[in-house]
Amino acid sequence: MSDVQGYIDREMHRFQEELFEFLRIPSVSTSSEHTSDIRAAANWLEARMREAGLETEVMETQGHPVVLGEWRGAPSGAPTVLIYGHYDVQPAEPLEEWHSPAFEPTVRDGNLYARGASDDKGQLYLHIKALEAHLKGAGSLPVNVVVLAEGEEEIGSPNLLPFVEAYHQRLACDAVVISDGSMFAPDLPSLLFSLRGLAYFEIHVKGPRGDLHSGTYGGAVVNPGNVLARILASLKDETGRIAIPGFYDDVMEWDPATRDAIRSLPFDQEGFLKEVGAPSLGGEPGFSHLERVWIRPTCDVNGFLCGYTGEGAKTVLPSRAMAKVSFRLVPRQTPDRVRELMEEHLAQVSPPEVEVRLVELYGGRPWKADPEGEFFEAAKKALEDAFGTPPVLAGEGGSIPIVVDFQEILEAPVLLMGFAPPGANMHAPNEWIPLAYFEKGIRAVASFYTEIGG
Ligand code: BES
Ligand code: MN
Ligand code: MN
Repeated sequence: MSDVQGYIDREMHRFQEELFEFLRIPSVSTSSEHTSDIRAAANWLEARMREAGLETEVMETQGHPVVLGEWRGAPSGAPTVLIYGHYDVQPAEPLEEWHSPAFEPTVRDGNLYARGASDDKGQLYLHIKALEAHLKGAGSLPVNVVVLAEGEEEIGSPNLLPFVEAYHQRLACDAVVISDGSMFAPDLPSLLFSLRGLAYFEIHVKGPRGDLHSGTYGGAVVNPGNVLARILASLKDETGRIAIPGFYDDVMEWDPATRDAIRSLPFDQEGFLKEVGAPSLGGEPGFSHLERVWIRPTCDVNGFLCGYTGEGAKTVLPSRAMAKVSFRLVPRQTPDRVRELMEEHLAQVSPPEVEVRLVELYGGRPWKADPEGEFFEAAKKALEDAFGTPPVLAGEGGSIPIVVDFQEILEAPVLLMGFAPPGANMHAPNEWIPLAYFEKGIRAVASFYTEIGG
């Protein structure tokens, strides 16, 4: 093991330089103008994985490619670990809010700022470096590994499930390890027991054939903007509960032990309020802050498009209105069922003078772990080795759609150990990761292999 940690000491500077190079490639999966950058990021990653000592392959899908890396030279009886991450990133806009350019990695006060620093290129790359530390520092790994890096996570992983189904034998493993989330508090690592799912829709409301003069026609033609506002208002009641009939029928009540464990975690309400900068906080009655974001569902308007929004006034009766609305889901809910409930609800609340249409953009099921067993114990110890304090067990409000499919298809436990700092600005301007967490992440993952292989 000393070879491994010593190798990390000696090579850390180069590891960082390589990460900067990775982050300079604007691998934005959602925009077609970046298709060649996505390809460049996949090829770049494959080359580094090969240098680290893995056998590699860039594999085509209907969308962006998957980069696969394998090393199967461990002693017989050693476990096989699947490492999953994503090399695509969210768009960097609004660009003017970045203090340094999004795709020009910049270090300030030991923190690295760039799109993808935390989500997920920085965290994916630290796994590659942990593998390299074993393979080059000690000459071998104590476990077999398969690395699966996808380029479509930020657009809902539309092609990954068929890939996992087609290659399930090659992806067979004893545990899945993912670093694509945050630590619970600064310098306090976490292991996750849950992720929320997601159901994402557009609601389109269409009224008259074209925009109309609101004086000549207003009062006699129903306005799609007003209708959409009523529809959106009908989704939640004034207390913050979701008002779609039947919505809570599938919502699992969590066991008292988990709720107690959540309550026992320190939560800095003041600090959180400062971080988000809202006048005050609000959510579903009867649940604590952490419960609201981890184990309860949500309904949020993500965007709104209607009428005239330029400078000054324009007396227009718009022809159409559209809103983006998404739900975070918790165990036992499914995106399919939520779509059905939304269809039924829209049919109830839509007036006949307009056409209302629901379009599903993507969905992902929620995930819940049984956080126990030898791999969890090894991960706890490895995180404590690297951070000097044992991890807490935490939930997570965000979504990683493929996780529950991994658990079901590969029949292996999934370990989620995130190395992003709380408040990492994922998807926002000035995304960052402390260089110290990049390094400790490499050390923790390297120790994890030593633990489970030993
Ligand atoms: N890495 C995030 C999810 C995440 C964020 C996990 C914070 C833990 C902590 C992931 O890349 C992501 O952004 N997921 C999307 C869903 C996807 C379908 C676009 C999300 O949660 O909105
Ligand atoms: Mn991510
Ligand atoms: Mn993301």
